[in-house]
Amino acid sequence: MRSNNLILLKLGGSVITFKNKALTPNMEVIERLAREISEALEAQPFRLIIVHGGGSFGHPIAAEYGIASGFKEPTQMIGFSKTHNAMISLNTLVVEALLNNGLPAFSLAPSSFIVTKSGRIHSLHMDALRHAVELGFIPVLYGDAVLDYDAGFTILSGDQIVSKMAIEFKANRIIVGVDVDGLYTADPKADPNAQMISEISIDDLKSLMGRVGGSRFIDVTGGMMGKILELTVPAAMGIDVIITNALKPNNIYRALKGESVVGTRIVKGWR
Ligand code: IPE
Repeated sequence: MRSNNLILLKLGGSVITFKNKALTPNMEVIERLAREISEALEAQPFRLIIVHGGGSFGHPIAAEYGIASGFKEPTQMIGFSKTHNAMISLNTLVVEALLNNGLPAFSLAPSSFIVTKSGRIHSLHMDALRHAVELGFIPVLYGDAVLDYDAGFTILSGDQIVSKMAIEFKANRIIVGVDVDGLYTADPKADPNAQMISEISIDDLKSLMGRVGGSRFIDVTGGMMGKILELTVPAAMGIDVIITNALKPNNIYRALKGESVVGTRIVKGWR
């Protein structure tokens, strides 16, 4: 199926939660983003799938119980369920904010239709999601604690879900909302000389690897490096990928409308 005009929007956990305060949502930002999404859809209709991250809801619990590295002992099982449950709580807040703006947001738990193999999406049941998109719902997925054929269970990042869905639906664009302006030549939180990159080819990205700073907080799915790696696959297929600061008002609104925003665009070709 080719979903015309489909956008995949990732809302990073560091945007919608206070990453250094356990289980604390940033309601002001969640509500503003819901308004921006609603206004963008009003200005020009498009199909949309939202995927959000874990931030201080998913990562600390997953780290405490070692969920990302797989099943080792039964005591982890409560941690797996607690991680999943915390993500449901965060997802409910996001979905409610969208509903309050009149948007047909529809929560779908990734762990109920995806099983990974060594951390990569392996079995994928797209029927409900495809049907929901075709009808005009806005599915709201999230990074989740999922079952894994090799490891028993693991953490599936929202970024891997975004990439996979963009490929499956042949999306037009991926917008990744993060808490920095884009990709930098070094970690902007640690190095004052770090420069933002407005456009980068996949090949140049590879040479940047290792220089991009990791997240300062617990991140069981690989921080900014993990995000970039996931995004190279859809970018290589010609899907437009833009990373922008979702903490700054109107960036997501503008990006959804296809307008230029401050951020990093990942392009397929050579520069
Ligand atoms: C992680 O998802 C989800 C869990 C820890 C359960 P992401 O890796 O996409 O989350 P953020 O955006 O980095 O917080």
